[in-house]
Amino acid sequence: MSEQKDRFILGIETSCDETAASIVKNGKEIVANVVASQIESHKRFGGVVPEIASRHHVEQVTIVLEEVMAQASMSFQDLDAIAVTEGPGLVGALLIGVNAAKALSFAHQIPLVGVHHIAGHIYANQLVGDLIFPCLALVVSGGHTELVLMKEHGSYEVIGETLDDAAGEAYDKVARTMGLPYPGGPHIDRLAHEGKPTIKLPRAWLEEGSYHFSFSGLKSAVINTLHNATQKGETIAPEDLAASFQESVIEVLVGKTLKAAKAYDVKQVVLAGGVAANKGLREALTSAFEDQPDVNLTIPPLALCTDNAAMIAAAGTIAFEKGIRGNMAMNGQPGLPLVSYE
Ligand code: KG4
Ligand code: ZN
Repeated sequence: MSEQKDRFILGIETSCDETAASIVKNGKEIVANVVASQIESHKRFGGVVPEIASRHHVEQVTIVLEEVMAQASMSFQDLDAIAVTEGPGLVGALLIGVNAAKALSFAHQIPLVGVHHIAGHIYANQLVGDLIFPCLALVVSGGHTELVLMKEHGSYEVIGETLDDAAGEAYDKVARTMGLPYPGGPHIDRLAHEGKPTIKLPRAWLEEGSYHFSFSGLKSAVINTLHNATQKGETIAPEDLAASFQESVIEVLVGKTLKAAKAYDVKQVVLAGGVAANKGLREALTSAFEDQPDVNLTIPPLALCTDNAAMIAAAGTIAFEKGIRGNMAMNGQPGLPLVSYE
């Protein structure tokens, strides 16, 4: 039997505020990984400023690519493909990564593969261990909140999604109202562990059997609670408000994930996206699936939860194997839908 040659794929990610490049072996093993974060530049504006993000990507992308090749001690000729986030994301930011990938692909005659950012977040789990199908992914990031059912590699069925704000967006907006720095998620998470969930807040279960989410009502309830207290001259302990908000978000996320896992009889549940770094969510999911021995629960390490390029290379490996190829007409697509490969 002939042994299969190892496959090395370079991933490039520039969809939001991280300029990242990574080389992944056989879709599972990180050879090199570089992430240049712009968070410090956006902090004073309380959110990501698209124009500033694009400029940073332009400044960083060549440096990050040189660094990743040096870290891997590889040359471009050693690569089997270049995978890049094609969308969704900020159009100007996406364009920088797409153009860098196209230039490298053209100059070195290496196949080009476009990757969906959410497929990337899900495939961060493939860097932990092989995905087991049918698999249910709870995707919680700054821009997305979705339950995605996967029957095989490269197959994505969105069975539920947010009708308004994404979970991370709700965290960031609530944090902003509480006077916490951007991005607010980690700050609320930390505060929540110091407080008690003593404030009554709503849970958006929506209609019976729905796997959709809604966080804007909860966000407004937190803002109203704060305003009412200020008007009455009362003070609310920020750690108790954070704990109450976090409990409400987690209860719905975990409740719906558990229900869907049972209904679709999945073998694995994976957590994905920036909010997957949330300590409370990780703990609650772990305990919810403790008495589900037939379901493998996988939660990626913190560095693979927030935006990175290793996840893009991992998802790109599957796309490459399925025969997906990009060309010089590839563009950044801010509203790219998550579709299954044929
Ligand atoms: O996936 P990501 O890095 O970027 C997008 O694709 O959106 O997610 C960023 C989001 C932000 O909203 C941030 O506040 C949130 O992830 N986040 C957290 C935590 N760490 C990051 N939210 C809650 N708890 C955390 N520990
Ligand atoms: Zn992301």
